[in-house]
Amino acid sequence: MAGPTRAPRFGIWAAVHGSRASHHDPDEPDDASWARNRALVLEAEALGFDSVLVAQHTMNPYDGERDQLEAWTAAAALAALTRRIEIIAAIKPGLYHPVVLAKMALQIEHVSGGRFALNLVNAWNRAEFERAGLPFPAHDDRYAYGREWIGLVDRLMRGERVTFAGAHFQVEDYQLRPAGTFRPRPTIYLGGESEPARALAADHADVWFLNGQPLPDVAALIADVARRPASNGPLRFGLSAFVIARETDAEAVAEHARLLTLAQRDAGLRADTRARTDRASAMFAKTDAGAARHVGTNGGTAAGLVGSYATVAERIRAFYAAGIDLFMLQFQPFEAEMRRFAEQVLPRVR
Ligand SMILES: Cc1cc2nc3c(=O)[nH]c(=O)nc-3n(C[C@H](O)[C@H](O)[C@H](O)COP(=O)(O)O)c2cc1C
Repeated sequence: MAGPTRAPRFGIWAAVHGSRASHHDPDEPDDASWARNRALVLEAEALGFDSVLVAQHTMNPYDGERDQLEAWTAAAALAALTRRIEIIAAIKPGLYHPVVLAKMALQIEHVSGGRFALNLVNAWNRAEFERAGLPFPAHDDRYAYGREWIGLVDRLMRGERVTFAGAHFQVEDYQLRPAGTFRPRPTIYLGGESEPARALAADHADVWFLNGQPLPDVAALIADVARRPASNGPLRFGLSAFVIARETDAEAVAEHARLLTLAQRDAGLRADTRARTDRASAMFAKTDAGAARHVGTNGGTAAGLVGSYATVAERIRAFYAAGIDLFMLQFQPFEAEMRRFAEQVLPRVR
């Protein structure tokens, strides 16, 4: 395979708020519990997955009555339980002071023995902030805040002695220890597709996460960001995708149709969620347009990983050739389909 210099890696989205395609699936109880996530991640590691992404939401973004796994405390516990898998916790800068968050990241880096990463996400759920009395500035202002925030977190995670006076933060003579034990600092991912997200990815991230979408769109986004000077060496690229793999293309398409039908029962939840969403978030223009044709969050099946085992493997190879070296995957029912992917698709790609 042409493409990135690293071998392709495969990760799973933790079930932080339950099911990804539909919350009304008789084959998958909507379960966001710690017990379920603990077992899920341990099994993913045993099956050979390389990474787990623990999305951050303080309250369930679809329905406040439903359970929600807390990302950072769960990431710390997963770090202690696992041995090999990378653990990525998402973080919205507006929720934590950068000094406190950098310290938390370094602690999980130590618990995991150098396997921790954070995924900077800029927030879209207005209610998560406003109901807590926290400021929720306009889209680009949130990115300006996030830029100052991640600059500080980066330096603090490296163990630098930091004195800083900016528009949002004043830090004087702060240094975190221990730092740099396993590598210069934990890995920084960034998820978001608007122009300020792209600029911030080039300036501060190691890996830029794209939402699931067709290959030509992915290739165009990569070309746009890869041409920018990158501060942390060549930027790498990750793709979110929902996988439906079967013996034949027809069986996979039929399963997609089943999930699309179930997803219609979530129409009310989706409408409530959209009412709380910052309409300026770039990802929602895209995902809303495809809601009737795709399942899963963050693009889901729009990436086209729906088909026979051979078809899905071939499409993964094509994304890899275009520059994607980490595939962050969703399934439903999660455990059974994750196993199937590990047995049937991974050997065809690796
Ligand atoms: C791979 C990936 C993971 C994300 N994880 C989260 C998350 O954990 N919590 C969250 O609120 N938003 C998450 N987001 C959504 C981003 O916050 C969203 O893209 C951003 O708010 C909108 O920024 P944009 O307008 O630059 O796209 C994620 C996005 C991507 C691509």
